[in-house]
Amino acid sequence: PGRGSAGRPLLGFRPIPPSTADEVVVPRGYRARPFIPWGTPLLGRYPEFRPGTPSAGVPGGNTAEDQAQQVGMHHDGMTYFPLHAGRKGSEHGLLVLNHEYTDEFYLQTGAYQSPYAPTYTAEMVRKSQNAHGVSVVEIEKKRSGEWALVRSRRNRRITANTEMELAGPAAGHELVRTAADPQGRRPLGTINNCGNGETPWGTYLTCEENFNGYFRVDPGQNEENSELQGRYGVGGDRNRWATQDPRFVVTPTDANEPNRFGWVVEIDPFSPESVPVKRTALGRLKHEDATVHVTKGGRVVVYMGDDQVFEYVYKFVSSGNWRSMRSRGKSPLDEGTLYVARFDDDGTGTWLPLVHGQGPLTAANGFADQGEVLVKTRMAADLLGATPMDRPEWTAVDPRTGTVYVTLTNNDSRSEANGPNPRTPNLWGHIVRWDEQGGDHAATSFEWDLFLLAGPGDGVDGSTIKAEDSFGSPDGLWLDPDSRAWIQTDGTQPTGNNQMLAADPYRTEGGAPELRRFLTGVVGCEVTGIAMTPDQRTLFVNLQHPGERGGSTWPQNDGLATPRSATVVVTRDDGGVIGT
Ligand code: FEO
Ligand code: CA
Ligand code: CA
Ligand code: CA
Repeated sequence: PGRGSAGRPLLGFRPIPPSTADEVVVPRGYRARPFIPWGTPLLGRYPEFRPGTPSAGVPGGNTAEDQAQQVGMHHDGMTYFPLHAGRKGSEHGLLVLNHEYTDEFYLQTGAYQSPYAPTYTAEMVRKSQNAHGVSVVEIEKKRSGEWALVRSRRNRRITANTEMELAGPAAGHELVRTAADPQGRRPLGTINNCGNGETPWGTYLTCEENFNGYFRVDPGQNEENSELQGRYGVGGDRNRWATQDPRFVVTPTDANEPNRFGWVVEIDPFSPESVPVKRTALGRLKHEDATVHVTKGGRVVVYMGDDQVFEYVYKFVSSGNWRSMRSRGKSPLDEGTLYVARFDDDGTGTWLPLVHGQGPLTAANGFADQGEVLVKTRMAADLLGATPMDRPEWTAVDPRTGTVYVTLTNNDSRSEANGPNPRTPNLWGHIVRWDEQGGDHAATSFEWDLFLLAGPGDGVDGSTIKAEDSFGSPDGLWLDPDSRAWIQTDGTQPTGNNQMLAADPYRTEGGAPELRRFLTGVVGCEVTGIAMTPDQRTLFVNLQHPGERGGSTWPQNDGLATPRSATVVVTRDDGGVIGT
């Protein structure tokens, strides 16, 4: 695809080497400080962080109630919402961030223990549930230049038990009704919140990813339930919630609770009492992130990946202009068309609509109505012939050109290549990009190409990057307002810890994309979640699960040995724009 000529180079910092250190490294002239780690007092009684849980045998540790008043665990996707117009907005805002999952040994005992499988109490389950979800954190920049949490009524914790609403075509559907909620409209909680998005009307989107592993499925399910739960991999009770909380037990007569997860959830961060809404029109998958783009005609388009091997890339297009829909009291995320991508080997692609009654999505094939198409999104996409990808993670849109990018993190079980997934197996991951037909994001066809194949570099294992820029398992991805592409990793690296690199998408060097390593994470962490203030002078990045296999005490500045997921605040010593 043509993307115009390269202008001024986008990258101005001096790249850093890979690192195996238990500290965050950024380029010369930059500073990185840990901020709002898991357990930071956030609201209510503002309980101080104390490692461990009393009922797990750790006297003096934080209770479940404490955890509900503290920042959650395992920071992931994140958005900065300014609280003012103009310059002040870059010094005072709401940082909204996801808490994807928990490392239970650190949560319950404060120390690394593997395997960790004790008998759980109700209190331990509740603490685990309260460490999940989303935090809304009011923050401000002090005169010293450091950012601080504000003890504010705007601060909020959303957990696995927060009251929510189901909206869109699957709300109230038979498949989302449970014994506790026979109307199928008032689900509780959000879990496994991975990536994020934000809407032009100032709300936050949080994406439910690996919800499937939190349930126990009892025997005796009917054929339909077994097929549906099988397609989403429901089962495993990985956090032992099912031992104490019957909501996470799928019985033959009350089997629909898992169908109330796997959605994109909309949160109004400016209204602490607002009820989060699960937007079913956006489909039910292991949602990685939700990147919103507005078409020239004002329709909202949401790009989304389903993160599992051989799953698909999706987009949702609202039925109308978002302003006029909202003025008529309708959510632009409730009415529209969900599409799944077919990438053809000739470099073209087609968006296939998931619309009941169209093509194979009929009652005869098991889809009674649009609600059923959405609850069974993956099964509908299978029938349409979508292209199986190597774990679609984050999507991003280039604000200058409209080119859309998706990270495909890796797929060690791929034995047969297709155009957009050329390596067998795909050990290191890659990035695909496409341009919508005529530059219209509501179009139903596109042209794609491979942006890069990650790996050790210089052609090793087919990688198309330079050895000095080696990385693997691309996951988080964002193009900033200048179109600098920020790539974050989660998984095996050719060398060192997980990391974040920046790319200039318009430049190549000897055929390889222009890339520079910007940040290296600590032992055992992934680097995920990225946000900037509007002036691009403060960068927020999350380090998730430091020391997941031991070996880390980051962030260390708290005097504790327990590693804690945290945000990293990156600024430039000269106060300049990040990345230039
Ligand atoms: Fe939550 Fe696919 O990473
Ligand atoms: Ca991720
Ligand atoms: Ca991960
Ligand atoms: Ca990942």
